[in-house]
Amino acid sequence: MKTYVLASQNKHKAKEIKQILGGDFNIITMDEAGLDNFKIIEDGKTFEENAAKKASQVFQRLKIPTIADDSGLCVDHLGGRPGIYTSRFAGENATDEMNISKLLKELEGAPINERGAEFVCAVALIENSAEDIKIFKGTCRGYIIEEKRGNNGFGYDPVFYYPEYSATLAELGDDIKNKISHRYKALKAFSDYLKMS
Ligand code: IMP
Repeated sequence: MKTYVLASQNKHKAKEIKQILGGDFNIITMDEAGLDNFKIIEDGKTFEENAAKKASQVFQRLKIPTIADDSGLCVDHLGGRPGIYTSRFAGENATDEMNISKLLKELEGAPINERGAEFVCAVALIENSAEDIKIFKGTCRGYIIEEKRGNNGFGYDPVFYYPEYSATLAELGDDIKNKISHRYKALKAFSDYLKMS
């Protein structure tokens, strides 16, 4: 089974990525690859650019096949914000709690038809050369509800309502989330590509 290092410090994402790809690929974290406390610079203008930058910084250090994910939430009523700033919406070291509070405040009074939102995930893959980067993208559409529901998942999951299941992603749990999410769709495209190449 081929090994890929995951260029991410986010433990929740790492858990989801391992669950989604686990059967077919050996995914190791940066710590497991011996790269502790490595600060990845994330200064791109798009999800794709950020994913590519993360993968390339880690590949240049470790020289082993690398994948990276950059993701975020684009809200209709906010003209697509917070977008690439999703993790720092309420400030540089904002917690999920602080980010959700800011989001709900900005959406106060917005009717349901303006609360549409999309999670976006870009996955970058580098196999042999930092000059050769493949990008795979996935999206997941839903609504931002007015208060938190559910205890699973991470980030904005408690306020992201997925109409097909009449539940927030935090109410659904990993098994279902990992079959419908933006991350699942991007990783499915990634694994389909590798199986065909
Ligand atoms: P980054 O990709 O590490 O820059 O951070 C993306 C941010 O988007 C995370 O910190 C979360 O707040 C949010 N996010 C990305 N994917 C998800 C998800 O599956 N559920 C909830 N929040 C997410």
